[in-house]
Amino acid sequence: MFSLEALRELQQKPAPFAPGEPLFWNDPYISQQMLLAHLSPHTDAASRRPETIERSVAWLIDALELTPGQAVLDLGCGPGLYASRLAERGLAVAGVDFSQNSIDYAVAQARERNVQVAYRHQNYLDLNEVASYDAALLIYGDFCPLAPEKRQQLLRNIHRALKEGGRFVLDVSTRHLRARCGARADWKVMNSGFWRPGQHLVLTQGFDYPELSLYLDQYIVVESDGRMTVYRNWFQDYTRETITAELAQNGFVVQSAWSDLTGSPYSDEADWIGIIAQKYIG
Ligand SMILES: C[S@@+](CC[C@H](N)C(=O)[O-])C[C@H]1O[C@@H](n2cnc3c(N)ncnc32)[C@H](O)[C@@H]1O
Repeated sequence: MFSLEALRELQQKPAPFAPGEPLFWNDPYISQQMLLAHLSPHTDAASRRPETIERSVAWLIDALELTPGQAVLDLGCGPGLYASRLAERGLAVAGVDFSQNSIDYAVAQARERNVQVAYRHQNYLDLNEVASYDAALLIYGDFCPLAPEKRQQLLRNIHRALKEGGRFVLDVSTRHLRARCGARADWKVMNSGFWRPGQHLVLTQGFDYPELSLYLDQYIVVESDGRMTVYRNWFQDYTRETITAELAQNGFVVQSAWSDLTGSPYSDEADWIGIIAQKYIG
């Protein structure tokens, strides 16, 4: 419930990775809004634009030298924008996401377009497959909101799921992106919006942890009956050195680094780092 005392406390910088409302991916209303954001061809809000995805899929097949029939795991596949395109090019694709709404959409689309993708509703932190895939993808910064122990758990799961020599592709954000896009203090009363269908107030605040290369976008949603909910998006930003070291500690060797996942050459100034890493067994 709304109280000035609760708000005052929420103005204080939280401990790194302190959770907000257990995330919003499965809230019935918010997950609908999220799906619309994934599917919008005009923004890069939840998924990149279709033309970028097309270029990315073509580049990934080329860069990983994937051949028809090889097995690809798309982690956090959302509505299947990459998974379906990879399957259309003959790959044996599995897509995992814990948004039921996105998985339902992906399954319906696959049926309509007559493509085979093994979609499943699962938390990738619970992934328990062994030596099953030639490549695993984690696209659009999905590594960055996770606390360090969860990142380690995910890397263990991916390492186990890959075949010997299998490749892991991910993109992580940099501090350049955060400097432009990190939330700033702001408030808005909305009649309806991303967080709620009815009238509500959104108090936005950003917290920077430069010594950890970490940033928090915090949204406090206050409804007209006084209910108050705190949503937190954490972003662990990386440099090429820090992501390379973290992957190395978890059994992956970086083969190449890029400025995105469409093959743009690596630059220290870019918003993103695209990584192709290989599983090794030490
Ligand atoms: C930023 S979106 C990217 C979606 C997709 N990779 C793309 O680029 O179109 C992140 C996706 O990861 C999913 N996700 C987040 N955490 C997850 C988890 N622990 N297990 C499975 N899926 C997760 C979300 O539901 C969402 O669909």
